[in-house]
Formats: sequence, C-alpha cells, structure tokens
Amino acid sequence: MKIEVIEPHGLCAGVNSAIAKALQLKNVYCLHELVHNEIVVRELKDLGFKFVESVNEVPVGETVVFSAHGVSPAIRKKAEERKLKIVDTTCPFVDKVHRAAAKFSAQGLPLVIIGHKGHIEVEGIAAEAKEAYVYPDLPIGAKKIGVVSQTTMNSDEVKAIVKKLERNYQIVKMAEVCKATKLRQDAVRKFCRGADRNSRAVLVLGSEGSSNVKRLCEVAEEEGVKVFRAGSVAELYAMDFSSVETLGLTSGASTPERFFDEALSILRNCPRHIAIIMDGNGRWALARGKKRGQGHIEGAKTLSKVLKWCKDRSIKYLTVYAFSTENWKRPKEEVDGLMGLFVKMLKSKTLDFMKNKVRFRMIGRRGDLPRNLLSEITRLEEKTKDFDREFIVAISYGGRAEIIDAVNRVKGPVTEETFRNYLYAPDVPDPDLVIRTSGEVRTSNFLLWQTAYSEFYFSDVLWPDFSEAELDRAISSYAMRNRRKGGV
Ligand code: FPP
Repeated sequence: MKIEVIEPHGLCAGVNSAIAKALQLKNVYCLHELVHNEIVVRELKDLGFKFVESVNEVPVGETVVFSAHGVSPAIRKKAEERKLKIVDTTCPFVDKVHRAAAKFSAQGLPLVIIGHKGHIEVEGIAAEAKEAYVYPDLPIGAKKIGVVSQTTMNSDEVKAIVKKLERNYQIVKMAEVCKATKLRQDAVRKFCRGADRNSRAVLVLGSEGSSNVKRLCEVAEEEGVKVFRAGSVAELYAMDFSSVETLGLTSGASTPERFFDEALSILRNCPRHIAIIMDGNGRWALARGKKRGQGHIEGAKTLSKVLKWCKDRSIKYLTVYAFSTENWKRPKEEVDGLMGLFVKMLKSKTLDFMKNKVRFRMIGRRGDLPRNLLSEITRLEEKTKDFDREFIVAISYGGRAEIIDAVNRVKGPVTEETFRNYLYAPDVPDPDLVIRTSGEVRTSNFLLWQTAYSEFYFSDVLWPDFSEAELDRAISSYAMRNRRKGGV
C-alpha cells in the first residue's frame, strides 16, 4: 500500500496556540474540552486539568480556561462575578465570528448560523445575538438577516446554503469557514480526484467528537472515496486496509502532529515478523500462591489472545519461544506439564488455524520431544502447510543448537545467504521486532542468527499479564525507530 501524506493537514494556528497556552498550566479548571481531541484531553488531565461543563462548578477565585471554541458573553460575565482567573484560548477566528454576530444583532438583524445545533461553538455564537437561528431554522417574516457560519463547516456546503438564503433574504454575512479548515478540505478533495480514484482511500486522524474531523470525512465520502477515521493507535490497528492501493493520510485541526507522525510510522513501518520471549509465567504464579504450572496455563491463554491481536494488526509471522534446550533441566513435573499443555493447546487450536488460514510450524530439536507431541506437531504442520500467515513455535529450541545443527548438515563452503538454508525455517524472514516480557534484558539463546539486526523491546509485564496495549506500545516503539542496519 502506498501512503500519501495530504498537505496541508493537522493543527491550525488557533488550536496550536490554545494547546501551547494550556500546557503552561497545571491543576486548573477547563470549561468543556479544550479542543475536541482525546489525546490532548488526556495530556491535560495528566497535568491536573479538571474539565467542567459550567463555570458554577469552578470554585470562587480559581483559574478557568475557556476552550478554543469560545464562550458566550453571559458565561464570561458569570466567570467575572465568581472572581475566576480567566485564561482565554478562544481561537481568534471564532472570536471574529462572535464579533460579527454581536454587530449584526446590534443592527437589529436576526442572526442565522450555518452550523451544527448543539455544538459548543455554535451555542457561544448564538448567545451573542438577541434573536438567533441555527440553519435550517429561519426567522419568519424577516427581510434582512445576518449570516455567520461555524468555523469548521464544509466550505462548499456553506456557499450553497448562503446562495439559497440569498433567494429569500437580503443578507449581511460573515459566513466563511476558517482558512485552515478550508485548505485541509480542499487538499482531501484534490487527493480523492487522483488518477486511481477507485483504489484510493483516505485516513482521517482525529477524534470522533471533532467537527472538523467529521467534515474531512464527509469531503472524501462526497468524492466517492472510502474513508477511515482513527483517534488513537488502537483504533488504527483495528483497521483493514487490504483493499486499498493508495492511502491518503490527513488529520483534523485539533489532532496533535505527534499522533500523525506515530500513525505514519506505523503505516509505513509496521513489523512483518514479531518474535516473543514469553517470560514470567512462573513468577506470575508464585506471586499468587499458585503452582508454576498454573502460570503456564495462564501464559497459554495470553498467547491465544496475542495470536488474534497479531492477526488484527496484519502481522504475517509470529514466533514464540515456548521451551528452550535449557528448559529440560526444570523439575520433571513442570516439564511434563508443559509438554501436556503444548499438546492440548495445539489440538484445541486446529480449527482456529484452519479458519484463520494460519500456517503452524515448529522450530527446535524434534528428536527431543515426546512422541505424542511430535505427532501432534507434524499433523498440524501438514494440515496448515498451504496457508500464508505463520505461527512458529520454538520448542526444545536453542540458537546455538540451531547453528550447530546447521553446521553439521552443511556441505562445502557457504555464504551468509546459503548458510540460512540449513536453519530450521530458512524461508521465514528475520524477526523485525523481538519482545521479551518480565523485565529480563537478555536474549537467552533465542534466534541468535536471525536477530542480528532485529529491534528489541523489553517489557516489565509478566507474560500472563501481557496486554493488547503493551503489544501496541512495543509496535509503536519499533515503528518510531530508524533501522539503519549498519548503513548511515
Ligand atoms: C517462561 O516463563 C515460559 C515458558 C518456559 C513456557 C511458555 C509456554 C506457554 C506460554 C504455552 C505456549 C503453548 C504453545 C503451544 C506454544 P518462566 O517459567 O521462565 O517464568 P519465570 O521466569 O517467572 O520462572
């Protein structure tokens, strides 16, 4: 899939300055969401911001932040009466619309607002006028009206509505959407009209509650192009872009650029092969007063979930370290328990692998395995051998053992390229990302040859507690890295 960055996109000057002002503050009250973006709101909550829906909720004398969408004169007055310290982040363009609305009203004109009823910006503007209507509501009997628009509307829609109004009224207007919003919408339109329109899609980054984000989606929809919207990394991973050849990436005027960068990295650099050292089952169990075997049972449950999460994220290869050549030294009870668990899990997963078209493979010293496990493995490998996505389990595996086994089979001189043909799964590409859980920071003899240039992510979480969010943190961390592989 080709990724095209749609320019301009992202933060407008008004939102940028609102966020910059807010980030200077701590433990203050904010009337409504500063901007309609969940990442920004979360960041401010971390700074101790308390979000309120009325100035009455702010204790007398405290600081209140007015959001970028502006407030009505009545609210401003109320805040002054309560002796609140006001930090006003109203976007200058919204402020201009407020002033126009007040001016039209002072001229005795009913005000018609082209915008979305109930949106906080529209409510603030309406409160400037003695008589205000939100289109399609209109004053009956009036000849002349004042017209303004919500700043984040679709500019074509506003033009069309103004034209309609001109047929029935004499109008005085300040009905333009903000320039930044218009430029972002025009850029999406232009992208949609590209040559291969049918295989194009637009991904709009931003929160569901954001008006300007919704408008960007509408522009693409009107052009007949498929639209995706993601407000967070988790939402991004849940998307299926399989039918898309060219994806245009844009973001709303309230979407932080760092989320844009992260999404771009993920789309461009999502790992193809993840390998996991599933460590910490024993400690997880002992911390709960349970037997170590119980930790492995919980670990197997986690692995089932990870398989699904990797499928959702289109990860083509997942390799897991289930049992090392060194693990045979563990007490017989634990080893027998693990071998039994492997058999049980492989049996119970067969249907799942068939349904999801997953190829199962095992790497490791097959001769070491109990007969019933080996026959389960060969049965499943045979049954799933034609599938494309792969789940590779390392059992009785050691990186050194794999290299030694390869060397013992080598005939004649080899190169790095030809040597890999003697490894257990030569056609599987090297892991892009290796995750190790439980806070241990070592490779423990895992895929020694294959991980020469892999990126590592060490997580403190014990394997049974490994979560989807932690997987996303590992993938995001990988996606943001610059893999030079010895180059510059
Ligand atoms: C390491 O934790 C984990 C293992 C040796 C076993 C992992 C196996 C599973 C999760 C089951 C997978 C099943 C299949 C079919 C692949 P540890 O025992 O070393 O934990 P500790 O370091 O806390 O002692």
